Amino acid sequence: MIHEISMKVVITGANGQLGQDITNLLRKHGHDVTACGSKDLDITKYDRVTETIQTHKPDIIINCAAYNAVDLAETEWEKAFLVNGIGPKNLSLAANKVNAAFVHYSTDYVFNGKASRPYTIADHPDPISRYGESKLLGEQQVMRHATRSYLIRVSWVFGSGNINFVKKVLEWSDKSDSITVVDDQVASPTYTKDLAKATLDLIQTDQYGLYHCTNTGHCSRLDFAAYILQQIGWSGELIPGKSTDFKTPATRPGFSVLDNFGLKQVIGYSLPSWQDATERFLKEIGRT
Ligand SMILES: NC(=O)c1ccc[n+]([C@@H]2O[C@H](COP(=O)([O-])OP(=O)(O)OC[C@H]3O[C@@H](n4cnc5c(N)ncnc54)[C@H](OP(=O)(O)O)[C@@H]3O)[C@@H](O)[C@H]2O)c1
Repeated sequence: MIHEISMKVVITGANGQLGQDITNLLRKHGHDVTACGSKDLDITKYDRVTETIQTHKPDIIINCAAYNAVDLAETEWEKAFLVNGIGPKNLSLAANKVNAAFVHYSTDYVFNGKASRPYTIADHPDPISRYGESKLLGEQQVMRHATRSYLIRVSWVFGSGNINFVKKVLEWSDKSDSITVVDDQVASPTYTKDLAKATLDLIQTDQYGLYHCTNTGHCSRLDFAAYILQQIGWSGELIPGKSTDFKTPATRPGFSVLDNFGLKQVIGYSLPSWQDATERFLKEIGRT
């Protein structure tokens, strides 16, 4: 049974796609939220982080800040490591000082993508990109340093706040009547509204630990694009491609589906299907 008591919450990276939805949801539920964008609080600065947390003395810190430029991270790896690795450590230490719980998000890209079944929380990470390494470093720091943490891996995140795969497909479809999308990257899309709700439900359980949290089901990038384009009634040509057709600096995992085992047992439900989530998102941004 989940009890809702008003919490004092500090959210970092509050202007990102997840940060915006979590901020809005928690405020709607009457929680006392301090929403910090990157200009208000740079999570890589230990002194600023501890000062801010000491000032607000939250019950919980939710870190939505991240460096998510997967390809750029191959060259800017130090920046990625700072934001995704050192930032979570700073927040973990600051959380401990005021006895706050800490929520942090990681990614399917900590896995190598060579599995033939969905990854569970028992599987060992083996990142194949600098971005994946930086997110794994963050996981390790949180596990090592935060006394009470929820570490939540998500994949293919989409929401209204930022550029994401759904928005890219919409942009391509607006500009062209022929689109090529890879069919050899498979994962589970995650809608920020559903992730925000699951986070809110999870943090009221006090059942700290590692979770996988995605919408239900999985698809290839091609399937995902086909579904989006069908929903908006696009009549162009969708062409299947391979990852090797696109020369990107970072290698993406081929199969990085996250099995949500462990989450349902705690919050009592599975997230809606990725198709349902996609339909609601397209409605939210006025595309259907
Ligand atoms: N997007 C995905 O497909 C995906 C996939 C798997 C996992 N995830 C994880 O899910 C979580 C939420 O992702 P998201 O897509 O909502 O992220 P997002 O939209 O890219 O937002 C990230 C936010 O972090 C802020 N930020 C960057 N550096 C910062 C710093 N040093 N200090 C404070 N804030 C900083 C950014 O602010 P500025 O814009 O001002 O720089 C931005 O608002 C992250 O942990 C991410 O790694 C995302």
